[in-house]
Amino acid sequence: MTAETAQRFPPERLAVCTLAERPELRAQLFSAEFHSAWPEFVRHDPAASLYYGESALDRYLDFALAAVDKDAPDRVIARGFSVPIAFRDGTAGRDQLPLGGWDAVIRWADADWRAGRRSTVVSALEITVLAPYRGRGIAQLMLQAMIANMWARGFGDLYAPLRPSDKHKEPLVPFADYVARTRGDGLPEDPWLRAHVRAGGRIVRIAPYSMVIPGSLAEWSEWTGMDFARNGDIVVPGALAPVHVSREADHAVYVEPNLWVHHRV
Ligand SMILES: CC(C)(COP(=O)(O)OP(=O)(O)OC[C@H]1O[C@@H](n2cnc3c(N)ncnc32)[C@H](O)[C@@H]1OP(=O)(O)O)[C@@H](O)C(=O)NCCC(=O)NCCS
Repeated sequence: MTAETAQRFPPERLAVCTLAERPELRAQLFSAEFHSAWPEFVRHDPAASLYYGESALDRYLDFALAAVDKDAPDRVIARGFSVPIAFRDGTAGRDQLPLGGWDAVIRWADADWRAGRRSTVVSALEITVLAPYRGRGIAQLMLQAMIANMWARGFGDLYAPLRPSDKHKEPLVPFADYVARTRGDGLPEDPWLRAHVRAGGRIVRIAPYSMVIPGSLAEWSEWTGMDFARNGDIVVPGALAPVHVSREADHAVYVEPNLWVHHRV
């Protein structure tokens, strides 16, 4: 056994359940430890509350996943969120995956619920592994669990508006150039995109405005600890692209690109 495989988390020790199955784990999915896995500004995406809001999430308990180590079954070490949506069902404007990515599917799901529309596919929203457990293959196991969960509920397609995990290290590189990079073995250079492709995911299209996060300069300062003293494109830690700042208008807007990937079972 190589050192790398020795570090892998044993798949048989990971138990993944839905929040419908284990509602007592819900608070842990929103612990400070999980929050710290994301840049603070991501939590201020206006679309998010339509899914993550207390009463909204009640609709999606079958699609919210929690993972525990069977040796410590009360501590959640990874979470996964997905959402069923109506896609290519004849609903106006839904013949293509939305350019508005993550925000758009959350809004679609909310509109579906209001209209009583039947879902036809599932969209991934997020997989997060707690920092001490990363690099051991747990995210890949979570992706498999998310696919198995949608299959068990009668769906055959999982779409993911994927956030390439290392893009934030090169925020000035055009997104299309970054996601097109491959290694010698032909697989994508970005680790999270590679994990999806290795799991059978097919790249569909870029969602150029997947998360749009506006705020006043004071709000952005609070979220980032930065002072935004000049106009223009400002690099912010954790952001995949620069944030657009207007001092005259007293606002900054972050537009995050993501990449649509399709898993067909
Ligand atoms: C992205 C994330 C989910 C990956 O979780 P993970 O459990 O570490 O990932 P895995 O161990 O399953 O590895 C997936 C791939 O990334 C690689 N990888 C993992 N950690 C890495 C690191 N620190 N540096 C470089 N590559 C890394 C793995 O080697 C693997 O690729 P490989 O199989 O080709 O070697 C995790 O870092 C995370 O929760 N980040 C914060 C939230 C986030 O960005 N989620 C993704 C968008 S939804």
